[in-house]
Amino acid sequence: MEHRIGIDVGGSGIKGAIVDREKGELVSERLRIETPQPADVPSVARTVAEVVDGLDFPGPIGAGFPSVIRDGVALSANNIHHDWIGTDVAKTFSEATGRKCTIVNDADAAGLAEARFGAARDVPRKALVLTFGTGIGSALMFKGELVPNFELGQIEFEGVRPAEQEFSAKARKKRNLSWDDWGKETARYLEYVQEVLNPDLIIFGGGVVKEWEQYHHLLPSTLRIVPAQLLNNAGIVGASLVADGALS
Ligand code: BGC
Repeated sequence: MEHRIGIDVGGSGIKGAIVDREKGELVSERLRIETPQPADVPSVARTVAEVVDGLDFPGPIGAGFPSVIRDGVALSANNIHHDWIGTDVAKTFSEATGRKCTIVNDADAAGLAEARFGAARDVPRKALVLTFGTGIGSALMFKGELVPNFELGQIEFEGVRPAEQEFSAKARKKRNLSWDDWGKETARYLEYVQEVLNPDLIIFGGGVVKEWEQYHHLLPSTLRIVPAQLLNNAGIVGASLVADGALS
């Protein structure tokens, strides 16, 4: 059965859709409910269940979650409520929705989707997907396989730790930075990441991809950087790929 529900839990919205996993395409509308604030465990679980109910499709679920995830358990909470640390997210969402639920880091979900269907498809070795949103997410794909839980938003950069605090898309707004200024700062961040990791291709993702025209000319021309092909749906599509428990 190649249709599965994919859920993307983000800092501002919880999104979900039914995905055709052979084509990597959404086959339903994309439901989105604002992430409850505070984003504590019961409120988020309830909202996930609401999105799932709204999609009205049976079967197991895959969900991307903005935390380091090991065996379904959240091990960090940088942009979510602290109560999530140590919480078994898979169990919590399974209980809330009444379905088997497999959890993957949200950026890792985007990486899986870009590797199978998008910009990383033809990269023979190392592709790095970066997602700029509430935080900075990162996924390292090696020979098409995910190397999970890379956290490039947490590194120190230009005296800021975690880097995502000043260099994410949310921080751009908070700091009132123009796209020009954000583009120049992001260019320096990418140069640093390239120097350390040396990926063959950097795939630029997250909500800011929609604004690619505003800043892409400022990104370093010496690096291979492309926008994410699945745009902001990469997280949902990637989550659907793990629905049968591939990573649990
Ligand atoms: C988290 C990552 C997540 C990223 C994007 C960061 O704060 O540490 O795990 O992928 O935000 O949501």
